Amino acid sequence: MNEFDRIVNSLKVHLETDKLAGIEEILQTRKESDIVHTVLFSTRKEKEAALQKLNKKAEECKACQLHGKRTNLVFGSGNPAAGLMFIGEAPGRDEDLKGEPFVGRCGQLLTKMIEAINMKRTDAYIANILKCRPPNNRPPLPDEVSACTHFVMEQIKIIQPKVICTLGKFAAQFLLNSKQPISALRGRFYDIDDFKIMPTFHPAYLLRNPADKKLVWEDLKKVRDELKRI
Ligand code: URA
Repeated sequence: MNEFDRIVNSLKVHLETDKLAGIEEILQTRKESDIVHTVLFSTRKEKEAALQKLNKKAEECKACQLHGKRTNLVFGSGNPAAGLMFIGEAPGRDEDLKGEPFVGRCGQLLTKMIEAINMKRTDAYIANILKCRPPNNRPPLPDEVSACTHFVMEQIKIIQPKVICTLGKFAAQFLLNSKQPISALRGRFYDIDDFKIMPTFHPAYLLRNPADKKLVWEDLKKVRDELKRI
């Protein structure tokens, strides 16, 4: 995504989140409205309600061609007040059929990864960069990304996780605004606003390259320790 798209996207995020918070007009400075968000979405119930509202908006979204090809929207699932959020690329066939992220073979592996750090899958929040399945699981196209990413950014703003674990190159490169390969990005924390990002390999990659599971285990231990620390 180029710099212009990123700025437009970021503006969209702020405006959309303000709308969710019931603020139709932007009368405040950014700083003040940030405080409003924190106050408005501070309880699990408030976050759940805001996510439900956003989910409805995503259901109605026709900003790219993918809405016409999906069986179900795959918005996200898990704890609306999670300290840990996982972000993948886009729904696959199983996810499209069920309307839930990471439910196929990759999902089973992700569940094991979460359990390996002594958490339940339902303790975390799981989402994808794209909310609709690209045909034949092809990589997301640039116009689909710029049409959709404001949803995941709004999810992050509502949930306010402490740690975001990105799965695979796509989510890492988007959130870190980087073109580096995932092998270079993974394995360390990046401080962004009030949260930390830990990029790691995608479960689909691990299914093809099981020898690299040990690297993901190292990344997950850092996530576990960071969550304990804060
Ligand atoms: N791969 C992803 O990136 N997300 C899913 O939900 C499933 C597979």
